[in-house]
Amino acid sequence: MGVCRICPLPTAMPERDQMINDVLVSGFFELAAVSASLTAAHETGLLVALSTGPAGGTELAERCTCSVAAAEQVLAVLVEAGVVQVDGDRYRFTSAVQSELDKSPGGAPAYFRLWAHTPTYLRSGAPTAVMDGTPAERSAAYSSTVGGLADLFGDAALTLASFAPIRAGARVLDLGAGSGVWSLAMISATPDATATAVDFERVLPSFRARAAIVGVGDRAETIVGDYHEVALDRNRYDRIVLANVLHLESPTDAAALISKAASATASDGDLVIVDIFDGDRPARLRHAAYALHLGMRSAAARPHRVADLVGWLAEAGFDRYSSIDLGAPAGVSALVAHRGVV
Ligand SMILES: C[S@@+](CC[C@H](N)C(=O)[O-])C[C@H]1O[C@@H](n2cnc3c(N)ncnc32)[C@H](O)[C@@H]1O
Repeated sequence: MGVCRICPLPTAMPERDQMINDVLVSGFFELAAVSASLTAAHETGLLVALSTGPAGGTELAERCTCSVAAAEQVLAVLVEAGVVQVDGDRYRFTSAVQSELDKSPGGAPAYFRLWAHTPTYLRSGAPTAVMDGTPAERSAAYSSTVGGLADLFGDAALTLASFAPIRAGARVLDLGAGSGVWSLAMISATPDATATAVDFERVLPSFRARAAIVGVGDRAETIVGDYHEVALDRNRYDRIVLANVLHLESPTDAAALISKAASATASDGDLVIVDIFDGDRPARLRHAAYALHLGMRSAAARPHRVADLVGWLAEAGFDRYSSIDLGAPAGVSALVAHRGVV
């Protein structure tokens, strides 16, 4: 069975894809205008001003010490690009953009700050952070960010739990669980299911706290340690989740982690990979954008190509799979893989 989109969601994803398509079908002149307008709006503080709520053009220009006429022209470009909308005489981000900013870890200021690093990164290749460093560096970096990722991925996790259900009493293992947003959504939708999180000691309190908040603290347990190192029982788990972790690993280490997870999966169990996937043109643009984004906050992290993930899954005996688009603002998809012959 090849990759099939089993649930192209009718809600948020088309809005985002439409915005990408609108920009792609425009000429280079329009693309350059959108890019220059976004850069100028960032540098003058117009984007952060917009993120605080609806405001008139004159008010926005004055808050950013800009020319009112020029601000109106820049805003007009952003309106036609689907970034900003006008209600009466007040401008605000479109709901898709505002939602992405609100749910992004650190909110709008952190979102724009990272993209503003692009020229420096282009010249030097130097990232602003290292999210894929040594275990100690990863542990420090993620202990403070996984809560924000739970906000970003919360709705997508509920969607995945409903589109890829587990059976009552299933055992779920979440490798690099962070807050456990994915596995806890799965078990809270399923009677008697349990989740085991593998992550660093400093990160696991987020998992335990979320398990308590969603009311499954008595069905959630933890294994402290490096997911490359911890021993896992063979064929024990009905589902293993690898959510937003494989892109932290080199191709060799990602393939090894998939192989290790496969050995720990029950014969009729599945492996679920959540990440940014390439595919059609909007997906490829998102994949390239995410590679740049990751590059600016890591030493060597890169999103893998679906063809590579599927190849590593097949080598591990998981050659039946389907993919599920999980929609905006998370922008991630899930690959649910099973063994071909059970
Ligand atoms: C990008 S976060 C993803 C968290 C969660 N899976 C999610 O999607 O929200 C990566 C997670 O993997 C954990 N992690 C990274 N490298 C790890 C390793 N070698 N062993 C165990 N956990 C690791 C981090 O601590 C962090 O919680």
